[in-house]
Amino acid sequence: MSAEFDATAVFNDSMQQEINMSTHAAQSTFSSSQTTFRRKAANRVQALVRGGGSMYAAVYSVRFLVNACLKSMDRWLVAMEQKRSLAEPWCISAQRWTATENKQQWNTYDWSQRGEEWTKSEQWKAEVISRFLEPYMPQQGVLLEIGPGGGRWTEVLQRRAKTLYVVDVSEKAIQLCKDRFADCSNMVFKLGNGSTIDLTDASIDAVWSYDVFVHITPVDVRTYFRELRRILKRGGRAVIHHAGAPLAGGRERAGWRSDLTVQMVLRFANENGLRLLDQTQDLVNAGDYLSIFEKSEDA
Ligand SMILES: C[S@@+](CC[C@H](N)C(=O)[O-])C[C@H]1O[C@@H](n2cnc3c(N)ncnc32)[C@H](O)[C@@H]1O
Repeated sequence: MSAEFDATAVFNDSMQQEINMSTHAAQSTFSSSQTTFRRKAANRVQALVRGGGSMYAAVYSVRFLVNACLKSMDRWLVAMEQKRSLAEPWCISAQRWTATENKQQWNTYDWSQRGEEWTKSEQWKAEVISRFLEPYMPQQGVLLEIGPGGGRWTEVLQRRAKTLYVVDVSEKAIQLCKDRFADCSNMVFKLGNGSTIDLTDASIDAVWSYDVFVHITPVDVRTYFRELRRILKRGGRAVIHHAGAPLAGGRERAGWRSDLTVQMVLRFANENGLRLLDQTQDLVNAGDYLSIFEKSEDA
């Protein structure tokens, strides 16, 4: 028996021991959480019977189970919608991250840091500007920002633009921008409905939207892409930061991300003659994308 063989055997033995130990640890964690769950469920049922009687407890329990089934059916349906890039008003995904939910979320948000709480560092912000904003938002262009929030990118866009339109679904965000840029005569503020844009056809050179499409429901993103085709001039550009890879089983992503996928975005762009110039996962949160489109000459 060689020394090398012995060493391998010892290594294998200790690996097996570790696997056994961690399997055992995982099993005991699982069974202890199952015991806690069972104990809690039993306590709840006893409280229901004591408080409302056995019929009340029975109907209450059935209701709980039906709700759990509905939630898991929704997750399955959303996963199928994501797989097939479906974005229709009747989709389950259309009921989540709606314009109404966004309005509520951002009208009650504490904007005291003007969105700089999402800035990873000054260097990060400078890089986003030099790589994605400056090359595509032309100096003295007619620009549009969708979802300016507290004006984190707006101040840079405003200095470059001949005219800068900003559209946001939140009254609070629009008011913040009006106050912050009160002295800027080249700005126009618009309260939006969350999917259409009140601007004339072929009037815009470039569109900027960072940290906004990550929160918008797919059916509204689809409408926005139709609007991009309509309002952009030929050769006009759009820089859009959006949610990307779905989680398995239709589970919700962290960071209040909508059900939008990168395949849906590519489909919407394709439907509207918007050519993908570049797409990256640099300088955005994990799982997100930043895509740059150009309106083709024949769109
Ligand atoms: C996370 S904040 C980002 C703000 C800013 N873009 C930034 O990066 O600091 C999201 C902004 O998008 C706006 N928003 C959300 N859904 C929108 C929609 N469907 N249309 C236009 N704006 C929307 C919100 O009101 C909010 O101002």
